[in-house]
Amino acid sequence: MKSEVAENSGLDPSKRPCHVAVIMDGNGRWAKKRLLNRVKGHERGVETVRMVVRTSRELGIRHLTLYAFSTENWQRPKSEISALMTLLRRFLVSETPEMQENGIRLNTIGEIDRLPGEVRQTLDQTLEATRENEDMCLTLALSYGGRAEIAGAVRAAAAAVKEGKIEPGDITEKSFSKYLYTADMPDPELLIRTSGEFRISNFMLWQLAYTEIFVTPTLWPDFTREEYIDILKNFQDRERRFGRISS
Ligand code: IPE
Ligand code: IPE
Ligand code: MG
Repeated sequence: MKSEVAENSGLDPSKRPCHVAVIMDGNGRWAKKRLLNRVKGHERGVETVRMVVRTSRELGIRHLTLYAFSTENWQRPKSEISALMTLLRRFLVSETPEMQENGIRLNTIGEIDRLPGEVRQTLDQTLEATRENEDMCLTLALSYGGRAEIAGAVRAAAAAVKEGKIEPGDITEKSFSKYLYTADMPDPELLIRTSGEFRISNFMLWQLAYTEIFVTPTLWPDFTREEYIDILKNFQDRERRFGRISS
């Protein structure tokens, strides 16, 4: 697969976001509109995941982070949770060969310990198999909550102080980031949320501080490659000021 921006995409490779994060939302509504079970929406959603992973790799995006399951999603009916876990396992098994072929490394953020044993086992296998891949990092946020992540990082920093490894004054924005799940990752430059909801839903609260946000009304199963590329073009046209004034 080409690692350059696909020639006909019309994107400027020098302004390509290095990290794209996605809140994949609207599977349930997609199914409801068709009088189908919510699980059918999640099944179709997996197809969109495949498309977004492929397209991102093709366009040379180095980091893609997908919000697949939140800490709050544990409050959904058991049957839906279990269907989501089955789909996740199936996805990992079916996608590992393509990830290998395309140099994609899998990574996870979230409370992985809370996932069922079989899912953890499959995750471990894919993480191990793709460990050396360097062209793109695909991060799945699983049982992820931004507040839980920050609280965990505070606990780790406090423990380091208690053990005498660091002084309270050593805790800076930069050093604190190292206690987060995303220690080795750049912050997302672009966040896309599908299905029209203008909220963050506890996603990457620390890391999204200066991220460009794009909300589309399209439901996740209906999200296309063309729309994804259009959003990337829109990102390229934005002026990112980071608190400064226009140059
Ligand atoms: C997103 O779709 C998938 C997950 C949160 C796992 P939803 O299941 O939230 O779909 P809606 O929001 O009910 O339409
Ligand atoms: C956010 O979607 C979580 C994921 C996409 C995994 P939700 O559907 O759970 O969020 P709310 O309930 O609309 O905030
Ligand atoms: Mg939702």
